[in-house]
Amino acid sequence: MSILLATTSTDLEDRIQRATSGHVLSIKGPLPDRPEELLYRLVGSPVPQVVVLDAQASSVQALGLAAGFAVTSPGTSVLLVSDLWQEIGMDAMRAGVLDILHPSAEIADIQVALERAERVAQLRGQPQTTAPTTVDPTTATVAGGRVISVVSPKGGVGKTTVSTNLAVGLAKAAPQSVVLVDLDIQFGDVANALNLEPEYQLPQMVRGDAARDTMVLKTFLALHPTGLYVVSGPESPIEADGIDGEMVGHLLDQLAAEFRFVVVDTAPGLSEHTLAAMDRTTDLVLITSMDVHGVRGLRKELDTLDDLGMFTDARHIVLNFAENGRGLSTADVRATLGTDVDLVLPVSRSVPASVNQGIPLLQSSMRSPVTKELARLVARFAPPVSTGRGRHRRSWVGAR
Ligand SMILES: Nc1ncnc2c1ncn2[C@@H]1O[C@H](COP(=O)(O)OP(=O)(O)O)[C@@H](O)[C@H]1O
Ligand SMILES: [Mg+2]
Repeated sequence: MSILLATTSTDLEDRIQRATSGHVLSIKGPLPDRPEELLYRLVGSPVPQVVVLDAQASSVQALGLAAGFAVTSPGTSVLLVSDLWQEIGMDAMRAGVLDILHPSAEIADIQVALERAERVAQLRGQPQTTAPTTVDPTTATVAGGRVISVVSPKGGVGKTTVSTNLAVGLAKAAPQSVVLVDLDIQFGDVANALNLEPEYQLPQMVRGDAARDTMVLKTFLALHPTGLYVVSGPESPIEADGIDGEMVGHLLDQLAAEFRFVVVDTAPGLSEHTLAAMDRTTDLVLITSMDVHGVRGLRKELDTLDDLGMFTDARHIVLNFAENGRGLSTADVRATLGTDVDLVLPVSRSVPASVNQGIPLLQSSMRSPVTKELARLVARFAPPVSTGRGRHRRSWVGAR
Protein backbone atom coordinates (compact mmCIF):
# COMPACT_ATOMS: atom_id res chain seq x y z
CA MET A 1 0.00 0.00 0.00
CA SER A 2 1.16 3.56 -0.51
CA ILE A 3 0.69 5.86 2.46
CA LEU A 4 1.76 9.46 2.82
CA LEU A 5 2.07 10.93 6.31
CA ALA A 6 2.43 14.63 7.07
CA THR A 7 3.26 15.36 10.69
CA THR A 8 5.76 17.11 12.92
CA SER A 9 5.41 14.51 15.65
CA THR A 10 8.19 11.92 15.69
CA ASP A 11 6.22 9.87 18.17
CA LEU A 12 3.21 9.61 15.85
CA GLU A 13 5.45 8.93 12.89
CA ASP A 14 7.14 6.14 14.81
CA ARG A 15 3.82 4.46 15.66
CA ILE A 16 2.54 4.72 12.10
CA GLN A 17 5.80 3.36 10.72
CA ARG A 18 5.53 0.42 13.08
CA ALA A 19 1.86 -0.15 12.19
CA THR A 20 2.88 -0.49 8.55
CA SER A 21 6.29 -2.15 8.99
CA GLY A 22 7.93 1.01 7.71
CA HIS A 23 5.86 1.40 4.55
CA VAL A 24 5.08 5.07 5.01
CA LEU A 25 6.42 8.03 3.11
CA SER A 26 6.75 10.62 5.81
CA ILE A 27 6.90 14.35 5.20
CA LYS A 28 8.07 16.58 8.02
CA GLY A 29 7.01 20.10 8.76
CA PRO A 30 3.86 22.17 8.81
CA LEU A 31 1.05 21.32 6.41
CA PRO A 32 1.10 23.16 3.09
CA ASP A 33 -2.00 24.83 1.64
CA ARG A 34 -2.45 22.69 -1.41
CA PRO A 35 -2.22 18.94 -2.06
CA GLU A 36 0.19 19.48 -4.95
CA GLU A 37 2.74 20.90 -2.54
CA LEU A 38 2.73 17.61 -0.67
CA LEU A 39 2.60 15.48 -3.80
CA TYR A 40 5.41 17.22 -5.62
CA ARG A 41 7.78 15.97 -2.98
CA LEU A 42 6.93 12.49 -4.17
CA VAL A 43 7.70 13.13 -7.83
CA GLY A 44 8.22 9.84 -9.56
CA SER A 45 6.14 7.81 -7.10
CA PRO A 46 2.49 7.01 -7.69
CA VAL A 47 -0.16 9.17 -6.05
CA PRO A 48 -0.63 7.68 -2.55
CA GLN A 49 -3.73 5.63 -1.82
CA VAL A 50 -3.88 6.89 1.73
CA VAL A 51 -2.89 10.30 3.11
CA VAL A 52 -2.63 10.87 6.85
CA LEU A 53 -2.66 14.53 7.88
CA ASP A 54 -1.75 15.56 11.39
CA ALA A 55 -4.39 18.13 12.31
CA GLN A 56 -3.11 18.82 15.82
CA ALA A 57 -1.29 22.03 14.88
CA SER A 58 -4.16 23.43 12.79
CA SER A 59 -7.52 21.78 12.14
CA VAL A 60 -8.45 24.46 9.64
CA GLN A 61 -5.31 23.89 7.60
CA ALA A 62 -5.76 20.12 7.65
CA LEU A 63 -9.44 20.33 6.65
CA GLY A 64 -8.64 22.66 3.78
CA LEU A 65 -5.97 20.30 2.57
CA ALA A 66 -8.33 17.31 2.88
CA ALA A 67 -10.94 19.13 0.79
CA GLY A 68 -8.20 19.80 -1.76
CA PHE A 69 -7.37 16.09 -1.97
CA ALA A 70 -11.06 15.28 -2.45
CA VAL A 71 -11.00 17.41 -5.59
CA THR A 72 -7.58 16.74 -7.06
CA SER A 73 -7.27 13.11 -6.08
CA PRO A 74 -10.72 11.74 -5.24
CA GLY A 75 -9.47 8.16 -5.17
CA THR A 76 -7.17 8.87 -2.24
CA SER A 77 -8.43 8.14 1.28
CA VAL A 78 -7.65 10.97 3.70
CA LEU A 79 -7.31 10.40 7.45
CA LEU A 80 -6.84 13.13 10.00
CA VAL A 81 -5.06 12.86 13.32
CA SER A 82 -6.89 14.93 15.91
CA ASP A 83 -8.28 14.77 19.41
CA LEU A 84 -11.09 17.15 18.42
CA TRP A 85 -13.33 14.79 16.47
CA GLN A 86 -16.44 16.07 18.21
CA GLU A 87 -15.66 19.64 17.19
CA ILE A 88 -14.43 18.99 13.68
CA GLY A 89 -16.29 15.76 12.83
CA MET A 90 -18.98 17.33 10.65
CA ASP A 91 -16.51 19.58 8.85
CA ALA A 92 -14.22 16.61 8.33
CA MET A 93 -17.03 14.62 6.78
CA ARG A 94 -17.84 17.51 4.48
CA ALA A 95 -14.21 17.74 3.46
CA GLY A 96 -14.34 14.08 2.41
CA VAL A 97 -12.24 12.80 5.34
CA LEU A 98 -12.65 9.07 5.77
CA ASP A 99 -11.60 8.72 9.36
CA ILE A 100 -10.15 10.54 12.35
CA LEU A 101 -7.40 8.96 14.41
CA HIS A 102 -6.68 10.00 17.96
CA PRO A 103 -3.12 11.34 18.37
CA SER A 104 -2.41 8.66 20.97
CA ALA A 105 -4.04 5.83 19.00
CA GLU A 106 -2.38 2.50 19.52
CA ILE A 107 -0.61 0.62 16.79
CA ALA A 108 -3.44 -1.92 16.43
CA ASP A 109 -6.00 0.87 15.97
CA ILE A 110 -3.80 2.58 13.43
CA GLN A 111 -3.47 -0.66 11.52
CA VAL A 112 -7.24 -1.17 11.37
CA ALA A 113 -7.81 2.39 10.18
CA LEU A 114 -5.10 2.25 7.53
CA GLU A 115 -6.20 -1.09 6.18
CA ARG A 116 -9.75 0.14 5.83
CA ALA A 117 -8.58 3.37 4.20
CA GLU A 118 -6.60 1.32 1.74
CA ARG A 119 -9.57 -0.90 0.93
CA VAL A 120 -11.75 2.16 0.31
CA ALA A 121 -9.08 3.65 -1.96
CA GLN A 122 -8.99 0.41 -3.93
CA LEU A 123 -12.78 0.38 -4.21
CA ARG A 124 -12.74 3.92 -5.47
CA GLY A 125 -10.25 2.90 -8.10
CA GLN A 126 -6.90 4.43 -8.77
CA PRO A 127 -6.62 8.19 -8.61
CA GLN A 128 -7.51 9.79 -11.90
CA THR A 129 -3.92 10.70 -12.68
CA THR A 130 -3.08 7.06 -13.21
CA ALA A 131 -6.39 5.69 -14.44
CA PRO A 132 -8.07 7.33 -17.42
CA THR A 133 -11.77 6.75 -17.82
CA THR A 134 -12.70 3.77 -19.91
CA VAL A 135 -16.15 2.67 -20.92
CA ASP A 136 -16.84 -1.02 -20.80
CA PRO A 137 -19.93 -1.60 -22.96
CA THR A 138 -20.53 -5.06 -21.54
CA THR A 139 -21.09 -3.84 -18.03
CA ALA A 140 -22.17 -0.30 -18.89
CA THR A 141 -19.97 1.16 -16.21
CA VAL A 142 -17.08 3.57 -16.25
CA ALA A 143 -13.90 3.57 -14.27
CA GLY A 144 -14.14 6.80 -12.34
CA GLY A 145 -17.07 8.35 -10.51
CA ARG A 146 -20.36 6.70 -9.86
CA VAL A 147 -22.98 7.75 -12.42
CA ILE A 148 -26.52 7.72 -11.00
CA SER A 149 -29.29 8.27 -13.54
CA VAL A 150 -32.84 9.05 -12.52
CA VAL A 151 -35.35 7.77 -15.08
CA SER A 152 -39.03 7.05 -15.59
CA PRO A 153 -41.25 6.19 -18.53
CA LYS A 154 -43.63 9.04 -17.68
CA GLY A 155 -43.21 12.75 -17.00
CA GLY A 156 -44.33 14.54 -13.86
CA VAL A 157 -43.51 11.65 -11.54
CA GLY A 158 -40.74 13.30 -9.54
CA LYS A 159 -37.48 12.75 -11.43
CA THR A 160 -36.32 16.32 -11.00
CA THR A 161 -37.45 16.38 -7.38
CA VAL A 162 -35.51 13.21 -6.63
CA SER A 163 -32.41 14.01 -8.66
CA THR A 164 -31.98 17.51 -7.22
CA ASN A 165 -32.44 16.27 -3.66
CA LEU A 166 -30.15 13.29 -4.18
CA ALA A 167 -27.46 15.54 -5.65
CA VAL A 168 -27.76 18.12 -2.88
CA GLY A 169 -27.74 15.39 -0.23
CA LEU A 170 -24.60 13.82 -1.68
CA ALA A 171 -22.94 17.23 -2.03
CA LYS A 172 -23.56 17.95 1.63
CA ALA A 173 -21.79 14.70 2.50
CA ALA A 174 -19.03 15.20 -0.08
CA PRO A 175 -18.82 18.82 -1.22
CA GLN A 176 -17.11 19.63 -4.51
CA SER A 177 -17.29 15.99 -5.56
CA VAL A 178 -20.79 15.82 -6.97
CA VAL A 179 -22.14 17.14 -10.26
CA LEU A 180 -25.78 17.16 -11.36
CA VAL A 181 -26.52 17.09 -15.08
CA ASP A 182 -29.89 18.12 -16.51
CA LEU A 183 -30.48 15.84 -19.49
CA ASP A 184 -34.13 16.79 -19.87
CA ILE A 185 -32.68 18.73 -22.74
CA GLN A 186 -35.80 20.46 -23.96
CA PHE A 187 -37.78 21.14 -20.82
CA GLY A 188 -35.24 20.73 -18.05
CA ASP A 189 -35.92 22.66 -14.89
CA VAL A 190 -33.00 21.76 -12.65
CA ALA A 191 -31.73 25.36 -12.59
CA ASN A 192 -35.13 26.54 -11.32
CA ALA A 193 -35.39 23.82 -8.73
CA LEU A 194 -31.98 24.93 -7.41
CA ASN A 195 -32.61 28.64 -7.83
CA LEU A 196 -29.56 29.00 -10.08
CA GLU A 197 -29.03 31.30 -13.01
CA PRO A 198 -25.99 29.72 -14.57
CA GLU A 199 -23.82 31.66 -16.94
CA TYR A 200 -23.18 28.56 -19.06
CA GLN A 201 -25.55 25.75 -19.88
CA LEU A 202 -25.34 22.35 -21.48
CA PRO A 203 -25.07 23.61 -25.11
CA GLN A 204 -21.82 25.46 -24.33
CA MET A 205 -20.45 22.44 -22.48
CA VAL A 206 -20.86 19.80 -25.16
CA ARG A 207 -19.01 21.74 -27.86
CA GLY A 208 -15.80 23.68 -28.38
CA ASP A 209 -13.15 24.17 -25.73
CA ALA A 210 -15.18 22.60 -22.93
CA ALA A 211 -15.65 19.37 -24.88
CA ARG A 212 -11.94 19.28 -25.76
CA ASP A 213 -10.56 20.20 -22.36
CA THR A 214 -12.04 19.04 -19.06
CA MET A 215 -10.29 21.88 -17.20
CA VAL A 216 -12.26 24.36 -19.31
CA LEU A 217 -15.43 22.37 -18.77
CA LYS A 218 -14.97 22.62 -15.02
CA THR A 219 -14.84 26.40 -15.20
CA PHE A 220 -18.22 26.33 -17.03
CA LEU A 221 -20.01 24.44 -14.26
CA ALA A 222 -22.36 26.34 -11.98
CA LEU A 223 -21.69 26.05 -8.27
CA HIS A 224 -24.62 25.68 -5.89
CA PRO A 225 -24.26 26.92 -2.27
CA THR A 226 -24.21 23.32 -1.01
CA GLY A 227 -20.97 22.63 -2.93
CA LEU A 228 -22.82 20.87 -5.75
CA TYR A 229 -21.73 21.47 -9.35
CA VAL A 230 -24.45 21.77 -11.96
CA VAL A 231 -24.84 21.41 -15.71
CA SER A 232 -28.21 22.99 -16.38
CA GLY A 233 -30.31 22.52 -19.48
CA PRO A 234 -30.51 25.08 -22.30
CA GLU A 235 -32.55 28.21 -21.71
CA SER A 236 -34.82 27.47 -24.64
CA PRO A 237 -35.71 24.21 -26.42
CA ILE A 238 -34.33 25.65 -29.67
CA GLU A 239 -30.83 25.67 -28.22
CA ALA A 240 -31.17 21.95 -27.64
CA ASP A 241 -31.11 21.38 -31.41
CA GLY A 242 -28.17 19.37 -32.63
CA ILE A 243 -27.15 18.00 -29.24
CA ASP A 244 -26.87 14.27 -29.81
CA GLY A 245 -26.25 11.20 -27.70
CA GLU A 246 -22.58 11.12 -28.52
CA MET A 247 -22.02 14.66 -27.24
CA VAL A 248 -23.88 13.89 -24.05
CA GLY A 249 -21.92 10.65 -23.58
CA HIS A 250 -18.63 12.48 -23.97
CA LEU A 251 -19.69 15.10 -21.41
CA LEU A 252 -20.59 12.40 -18.90
CA ASP A 253 -17.25 10.65 -19.48
CA GLN A 254 -15.45 13.90 -18.76
CA LEU A 255 -17.45 14.50 -15.60
CA ALA A 256 -17.15 10.92 -14.33
CA ALA A 257 -13.38 11.26 -14.62
CA GLU A 258 -13.43 14.28 -12.32
CA PHE A 259 -16.27 13.75 -9.85
CA ARG A 260 -17.06 11.09 -7.34
CA PHE A 261 -20.78 11.25 -8.14
CA VAL A 262 -22.48 12.28 -11.37
CA VAL A 263 -26.25 12.52 -10.89
CA VAL A 264 -28.27 12.66 -14.11
CA ASP A 265 -31.82 13.99 -14.39
CA THR A 266 -33.56 12.84 -17.56
CA ALA A 267 -36.56 13.46 -19.80
CA PRO A 268 -39.41 10.91 -19.68
CA GLY A 269 -38.84 7.69 -21.59
CA LEU A 270 -35.73 6.55 -23.38
CA SER A 271 -34.51 9.46 -25.46
CA GLU A 272 -31.23 9.32 -27.33
CA HIS A 273 -29.70 11.34 -24.48
CA THR A 274 -31.03 9.06 -21.78
CA LEU A 275 -29.71 6.01 -23.63
CA ALA A 276 -26.28 7.65 -23.87
CA ALA A 277 -26.46 8.28 -20.13
CA MET A 278 -27.54 4.71 -19.41
CA ASP A 279 -24.46 3.42 -21.24
CA ARG A 280 -22.38 5.14 -18.58
CA THR A 281 -24.70 4.63 -15.64
CA THR A 282 -23.55 2.61 -12.66
CA ASP A 283 -26.81 3.01 -10.69
CA LEU A 284 -30.28 3.48 -12.02
CA VAL A 285 -32.99 5.19 -9.96
CA LEU A 286 -36.37 4.27 -11.44
CA ILE A 287 -39.39 6.33 -10.43
CA THR A 288 -43.07 5.74 -10.78
CA SER A 289 -46.13 7.56 -9.53
CA MET A 290 -48.62 5.49 -7.63
CA ASP A 291 -51.21 4.84 -10.32
CA VAL A 292 -51.96 1.88 -12.55
CA HIS A 293 -50.67 3.52 -15.69
CA GLY A 294 -47.37 4.59 -14.18
CA VAL A 295 -46.73 1.30 -12.44
CA ARG A 296 -47.41 -0.72 -15.60
CA GLY A 297 -45.07 1.54 -17.56
CA LEU A 298 -42.34 0.94 -15.04
CA ARG A 299 -43.02 -2.79 -15.14
CA LYS A 300 -42.34 -2.73 -18.89
CA GLU A 301 -39.14 -0.81 -18.38
CA LEU A 302 -37.99 -3.31 -15.76
CA ASP A 303 -38.79 -6.20 -18.13
CA THR A 304 -36.69 -4.56 -20.83
CA LEU A 305 -33.79 -4.12 -18.42
CA ASP A 306 -34.15 -7.78 -17.38
CA ASP A 307 -34.05 -8.90 -21.01
CA LEU A 308 -30.88 -6.89 -21.55
CA GLY A 309 -29.43 -8.05 -18.25
CA MET A 310 -28.81 -4.42 -17.30
CA PHE A 311 -28.44 -3.00 -13.78
CA THR A 312 -29.63 -6.21 -12.20
CA ASP A 313 -27.86 -5.32 -8.94
CA ALA A 314 -27.96 -1.57 -9.26
CA ARG A 315 -31.60 -0.58 -9.44
CA HIS A 316 -33.24 1.70 -6.92
CA ILE A 317 -37.01 1.78 -7.27
CA VAL A 318 -38.84 4.83 -5.96
CA LEU A 319 -42.59 5.01 -5.58
CA ASN A 320 -43.74 8.61 -5.52
CA PHE A 321 -47.06 10.27 -4.69
CA ALA A 322 -47.97 7.56 -2.20
CA GLU A 323 -51.28 8.25 -0.51
CA ASN A 324 -52.87 6.08 2.08
CA GLY A 325 -56.33 4.80 1.37
CA ARG A 326 -56.49 6.01 -2.22
CA GLY A 327 -56.31 3.76 -5.26
CA LEU A 328 -53.36 1.40 -5.24
CA SER A 329 -51.72 0.06 -2.12
CA THR A 330 -47.97 -0.36 -1.82
CA ALA A 331 -48.59 -4.10 -1.84
CA ASP A 332 -50.45 -3.80 -5.18
CA VAL A 333 -47.52 -1.93 -6.61
CA ARG A 334 -45.04 -4.54 -5.43
CA ALA A 335 -47.20 -7.29 -6.93
CA THR A 336 -47.51 -5.53 -10.28
CA LEU A 337 -43.81 -4.71 -10.43
CA GLY A 338 -42.84 -8.19 -9.32
CA THR A 339 -40.14 -6.66 -7.15
CA ASP A 340 -39.69 -4.74 -3.97
CA VAL A 341 -39.90 -0.98 -3.86
CA ASP A 342 -36.85 0.63 -2.25
CA LEU A 343 -38.35 3.97 -1.28
CA VAL A 344 -41.84 5.33 -0.89
CA LEU A 345 -42.33 9.11 -1.06
CA PRO A 346 -45.66 10.33 0.29
CA VAL A 347 -47.62 13.13 -1.30
CA SER A 348 -46.67 16.33 0.48
CA ARG A 349 -47.30 19.99 -0.11
CA SER A 350 -43.74 20.63 1.00
CA VAL A 351 -42.50 19.27 -2.35
CA PRO A 352 -44.03 21.88 -4.68
CA ALA A 353 -43.28 24.51 -2.02
CA SER A 354 -39.59 23.61 -2.07
CA VAL A 355 -39.53 23.60 -5.88
CA ASN A 356 -41.14 27.04 -5.97
CA GLN A 357 -38.59 28.38 -3.52
CA GLY A 358 -35.76 26.75 -5.42
CA ILE A 359 -34.52 25.12 -2.23
CA PRO A 360 -34.51 21.31 -2.24
CA LEU A 361 -35.89 19.70 0.91
CA LEU A 362 -32.49 18.23 1.78
CA GLN A 363 -31.01 21.71 1.72
CA SER A 364 -33.69 23.47 3.72
CA SER A 365 -34.77 22.99 7.29
CA MET A 366 -38.39 22.60 6.21
CA ARG A 367 -39.99 19.64 7.92
CA SER A 368 -41.53 17.14 5.57
CA PRO A 369 -42.45 13.47 5.60
CA VAL A 370 -40.60 13.25 2.30
CA THR A 371 -37.27 14.38 3.73
CA LYS A 372 -36.53 11.19 5.63
CA GLU A 373 -37.09 9.00 2.59
CA LEU A 374 -34.94 11.26 0.42
CA ALA A 375 -32.19 11.05 3.02
CA ARG A 376 -32.49 7.26 2.89
CA LEU A 377 -31.89 7.42 -0.84
CA VAL A 378 -28.74 9.49 -0.32
CA ALA A 379 -27.55 6.99 2.28
CA ARG A 380 -27.77 4.18 -0.29
CA PHE A 381 -24.87 5.88 -2.08
CA ALA A 382 -22.97 7.63 0.70
CA PRO A 383 -23.75 5.75 3.90
CA PRO A 384 -22.59 7.34 7.12
CA VAL A 385 -20.48 4.54 8.61
CA SER A 386 -19.28 4.58 12.19
CA THR A 387 -16.56 2.13 13.09
CA GLY A 388 -17.76 2.39 16.65
CA ARG A 389 -14.30 1.81 18.05
CA GLY A 390 -14.52 3.77 21.24
CA ARG A 391 -14.80 7.49 21.48
CA HIS A 392 -11.55 8.20 19.69
CA ARG A 393 -12.66 7.38 16.23
CA ARG A 394 -15.51 8.19 13.93
CA SER A 395 -15.58 7.64 10.26
CA TRP A 396 -17.59 8.05 7.11
CA VAL A 397 -17.28 6.24 3.87
CA GLY A 398 -18.26 8.04 0.70
CA ALA A 399 -18.88 4.68 -0.93
CA ARG A 400 -18.66 4.26 -4.64
N1 LIG B 1 -44.19 13.55 -3.27
C1 LIG B 1 -44.72 14.62 -3.86
N2 LIG B 1 -45.76 15.28 -3.30
C2 LIG B 1 -46.32 16.37 -3.89
N3 LIG B 1 -45.89 16.90 -5.05
C3 LIG B 1 -44.86 16.29 -5.67
C4 LIG B 1 -44.22 15.12 -5.12
N4 LIG B 1 -43.22 14.76 -5.96
C5 LIG B 1 -43.23 15.64 -6.98
N5 LIG B 1 -44.22 16.56 -6.82
C6 LIG B 1 -44.56 17.66 -7.72
O1 LIG B 1 -44.91 17.11 -8.97
C7 LIG B 1 -44.43 17.91 -10.03
C8 LIG B 1 -43.57 17.06 -10.95
O2 LIG B 1 -42.39 16.68 -10.27
P1 LIG B 1 -40.98 16.64 -11.02
O3 LIG B 1 -39.95 16.26 -10.04
O4 LIG B 1 -40.76 17.90 -11.78
O5 LIG B 1 -41.25 15.44 -12.02
P2 LIG B 1 -40.48 15.02 -13.38
O6 LIG B 1 -39.12 15.58 -13.32
O7 LIG B 1 -40.52 13.53 -13.37
O8 LIG B 1 -41.27 15.58 -14.51
C9 LIG B 1 -43.68 19.07 -9.40
O9 LIG B 1 -44.52 20.17 -9.36
C10 LIG B 1 -43.39 18.58 -8.01
O10 LIG B 1 -43.34 19.65 -7.09
MG1 LIG C 1 -38.11 16.81 -14.68
